[in-house]
Amino acid sequence: MSEPRKILVTSALPYANGSIHLGHMLEYIQTDMWVRFQKHRGNQCIYVCADDAHGSAIMLRAEKEGITPEQLIANVQAEHSADFAAFLVDFDNFHSTHAEENRELSSQIYLKLRDAGHIATRSITQYFDPEKKMFLADRFIKGTCPKCGTEDQYGDNCEKCGATYAPTDLKDPKSAISGATPVLKDSQHFFFKLPDFQEMLQSWTRSGSLQDAVANKIAEWLDAGLQQWDISRDAPYFGFEIPDEPGKYFYVWLDAPIGYMASFKNLCARRPELDFDAFWAKDSTAELYHFIGKDIVNFHALFWPAMLEGAGYRKPTSINVHGYLTVNGQKMSKSRGTFIKARTYLDHLSPEYLRYYYAAKLGRGVDDLDLNLEDFVQKVNSDLVGKVVNIASRCAGFIHKGNAGVLVAGNAAPELTDAFLAAAPSIAEAYEARDFARAMREIMGLADRANAWIADKAPWSLAKQEGKQDEVQAICALGINLFRQLVIFLKPVLPLLAADAEAFLNVAPLTWNDHATLLSNHQLNEFKPLMTRIDPVKVQAMTDASKEDLTASQTDTGAAQGNGELAKDPLSPEIEFDTFAAVDLRVALILKAEAVEGADKLLRLTLDIGDEQRNVFSGIKSAYPNPAELEGRLTMMIANLKPRKMRFGISEGMVMAAGPGGEEIYLLSPDSGAKPGQRIK
Ligand code: 2FM
Ligand code: ZN
Repeated sequence: MSEPRKILVTSALPYANGSIHLGHMLEYIQTDMWVRFQKHRGNQCIYVCADDAHGSAIMLRAEKEGITPEQLIANVQAEHSADFAAFLVDFDNFHSTHAEENRELSSQIYLKLRDAGHIATRSITQYFDPEKKMFLADRFIKGTCPKCGTEDQYGDNCEKCGATYAPTDLKDPKSAISGATPVLKDSQHFFFKLPDFQEMLQSWTRSGSLQDAVANKIAEWLDAGLQQWDISRDAPYFGFEIPDEPGKYFYVWLDAPIGYMASFKNLCARRPELDFDAFWAKDSTAELYHFIGKDIVNFHALFWPAMLEGAGYRKPTSINVHGYLTVNGQKMSKSRGTFIKARTYLDHLSPEYLRYYYAAKLGRGVDDLDLNLEDFVQKVNSDLVGKVVNIASRCAGFIHKGNAGVLVAGNAAPELTDAFLAAAPSIAEAYEARDFARAMREIMGLADRANAWIADKAPWSLAKQEGKQDEVQAICALGINLFRQLVIFLKPVLPLLAADAEAFLNVAPLTWNDHATLLSNHQLNEFKPLMTRIDPVKVQAMTDASKEDLTASQTDTGAAQGNGELAKDPLSPEIEFDTFAAVDLRVALILKAEAVEGADKLLRLTLDIGDEQRNVFSGIKSAYPNPAELEGRLTMMIANLKPRKMRFGISEGMVMAAGPGGEEIYLLSPDSGAKPGQRIK
């Protein structure tokens, strides 16, 4: 046997001023399943997290609620901890960045960076709220867009025209906090000299520590040249004061990742077998993994390794990045009831349904994951209830009735148990690679085989025949053993189901290696239903309740990982305004819409775009099986797309539609009054 690995794992630290929702849960469930898998395999795996408690958003929210920031973060920590526990996310420690260990480590890391010459200081000019007496971050300034003139836009970009600018470019700027007109003021800031680490980052980011898509994005940033990073904020600010610099505070993002170390340090004080240095010293042989969403890659794959390197610590083994959550193919929406808080979900549904669904859809890439609520009901009911639990419920009764609950010895189908045994390394490999979707597919493939074998043997028919009792017992004993194997494979995803199954099987907590043995001459306990089907009515009740949550206050927390509410996908390339402006978008009247013979998905559209007619092939047939209904309708098209030669003719442009596909494709339309040929600006 090889030595158990030493592994430290983190998930991103949630901000301490908002509730956990299903977008956040994607990351915590993903990480928890991976950690549970490592523990199941006998590795020493430690999972730490904390609330991200600093920053002006938290300070202002506490002020609004009339409580201290300390009270606010204590309340939120209690809420977050309860939500995580209820979703079976089993942290070894859930700490806070506003903690003594973090103050010490942040100061120490900063001083090491400063003393090694990696900190620069210079004066910068920023907007200052003369009433609140505080400098204003970009999102706390509003004004009129300098490009398109739209009012009430944030200090860094315009939601209407997409322009990005400096807050000083805004016309008629106002403080979003007090409404006062801000004034420009200078102050001394501290910068981390990221360019000092260019070479190290160039090789570290290509050393296999990152998924390819992430490494490619980072390569673009590295090629563009790194900038110094502003790590200080002026008082008033809720955070840690910078050593030797009264009135200056660490920016929240400086001490947030150090919170990973601090949470682990806090745990070490309670768990004497854990040694801080064994995990964090430069020569550590332990593995270190950070699970994050794609919106915070720069902090984790550039700033963080550079800080660690500069302060003499080890760097992460790997940063595991996931995509955002969408619900029913769209970003989570409060008005549609798909912005679902963890607690609202738990009020209606069992956590293991969601854990399984996420597992079934989570690959190792950075693609977004869609929680399609209909598919969710269908998949969970069919796989977990219909395939896995069904095996136990089909077999248990015969064993209790015919053999007093004792599994007979023997193996009624060695070819089947051999197949289960042979599948184990590949399932383990998929878990290790975070390809949960593949692991679930392979496990369900085994469940299908077990069910098919039992159906073929039909113990329920044999039980009615004279002299077939031994055969019935042999079949059902193997059925229960196969169920046990499936539970072993699924345990990282479904710990509650596994605990209930262990109680029924009358066995000690199962570990991965138990899959290589069978129970024989073994007494079972009473069988109780292990999982019930999801009732779609409950899903509806959950989305209805999420609409009601709308009335509850929702503070803008800025970026939050995986929350599906972000406007910008950081891994999709940005385009320049000129590129956008080069697209000729026009209102088009659909004169004729017809199916294309020999093409499953295509409609042929004849479009009037004012000065001419166009022939366009569009893959929207699945949503518009009666194409004639589109005739006479206005839509939007890209008129200057290079004509494309297709099997059925030439397509002269593209119409615009949204949605995930299938029946859910929605052709875009302008408001009534628009005329064919009008350009979209
Ligand atoms: O984006 C966020 O939600 C941050 N609170 C994540 C911090 S992760 C780590 F670096 F602390
Ligand atoms: Zn604008």
